Amino acid sequence: MQNDVKEILFSEEEIASKVKEIGQQISRDYKDKNLMLVSVLKGSVIFMADLMRAIDIPLTIDFMAVSSYGSGVKTTGAVKILKDIDKDLSGFDLLIVEDILDSGITLSYLTKYLSNKGAKSIRIATLLNKEDRRQADIKADYSCFDVPDEFVIGYGLDYDQKYRNLPYVGILDPKIYEK
Ligand code: IMP
Ligand code: MG
Repeated sequence: MQNDVKEILFSEEEIASKVKEIGQQISRDYKDKNLMLVSVLKGSVIFMADLMRAIDIPLTIDFMAVSSYGSGVKTTGAVKILKDIDKDLSGFDLLIVEDILDSGITLSYLTKYLSNKGAKSIRIATLLNKEDRRQADIKADYSCFDVPDEFVIGYGLDYDQKYRNLPYVGILDPKIYEK
């Protein structure tokens, strides 16, 4: 598995320290709010698990699953909801937890979708931000790291459902998807 990584971008330690910092910031910002973290499956599960433990105010969590990619490395542009939120959202201050903000199509769709369900406020926390590829007019409120326009894997992010268990974030060797 390690042999398929072209370059490690962020180590386990670097990620841990950044996630802790963002968690503290969120704890301050949401002190008097009704925070609900909404994790977008499956890529954000590891970030979600670490981030929620770095937040020290009361919160609830929920999960959504969407698909926009199939097994390729480029977005198809179409977003489909595979698993929806269980609860009524009125009164909640939602923080969508994502693995990576790429074209922004997924999150811009989700933000609109969730605001129609009555959330009081909606913000976005992303582990990675791939600014160069943005198509939709959307920005993360909390972002741990900027990444270059390369396909990245690890710490939850996959290529064809693999590599999610790598403890760091790295660039996938292009030979894997070019063959
Ligand atoms: P967007 O709609 O283009 O912003 O796509 C967001 C989703 O695409 C993310 O939640 C990821 O699941 C996936 N994605 C985008 N870029 C990468 C990448 O470099 N590695 C792994 N998954 C990616
Ligand atoms: Mg994702």
